[in-house]
Amino acid sequence: MRILLIGDIVGKPGVKIVTESLAAMRQRERIDLVIANGENSADGSGISPSIHKKLIAAGVDCITLGDHIYRRSEIAPVLESEANILRPANYPAAAPGHGWTVVKASDGTSVAVISLLGRVFMRPVDCPWSAVDRVLAEIPAEVKVRIVDFHGEATSDKQLMGRYLDGKVTAVLGTHTHVTTADEQILPGGTAFQCDVGMTGPHESILGRRIDRVMETTLTFQPTQFDVATGDVRLCGTVVDADPQSGRATGIRRLKVMEGELGGMPPASEP
Ligand SMILES: [Fe+2]
Ligand SMILES: [Fe+2]
Repeated sequence: MRILLIGDIVGKPGVKIVTESLAAMRQRERIDLVIANGENSADGSGISPSIHKKLIAAGVDCITLGDHIYRRSEIAPVLESEANILRPANYPAAAPGHGWTVVKASDGTSVAVISLLGRVFMRPVDCPWSAVDRVLAEIPAEVKVRIVDFHGEATSDKQLMGRYLDGKVTAVLGTHTHVTTADEQILPGGTAFQCDVGMTGPHESILGRRIDRVMETTLTFQPTQFDVATGDVRLCGTVVDADPQSGRATGIRRLKVMEGELGGMPPASEP
């Protein structure tokens, strides 16, 4: 079976390329399950209930988030009531939402999705290592395919999580930096790994925001509005192939779709 994790969706351009191209991409790439990080989907920070609905309607099976999760407070009740959107599992127990879920892929495989937040160069949170141990003890044994979105800043932190979970989960894939890393690999125990799957949104930008605004604030220390940029919109993500019986990864590759590449594309005439 084949799973896609879409990297941090930024603002309207990011949401647009996902809604326009996901149906055709699922078909072209024969993808059975789509996970998307949506922490920047509402104007660059947070996610709204309407964007949650829009992404699910477009064919996303599960949404993960990250440090910007509660920027739009109206998402809190959705995090409580819906099983297809996650908060980091190492947030405090009282924080709204669920840290993991099981979703059904289109081939019938049950897939566990786990969200974790890194601690290096980020706001302090609970230990992600003990949190993931707790989650793995809770996931039913028959759910063999398990995907971790490790939302973190430091590549070393992400590599450590990959090694820690090697042989215990199907994939440890990073989000948050908005920059795709070229280290996709299958670790010795059968876990697919990549430090960061990249960003879905405008790449003519600084991590999705207008270059001039970020530059001005950086050079002058004067606050500006970090509006979402508009140019060179791409959908970036990573595809993992998995053996549903064992949960081991059998393949991993990066995926990039340019704006307009798939939008409006007629359905492929594949069997
Ligand atoms: Fe992000
Ligand atoms: Fe983030």
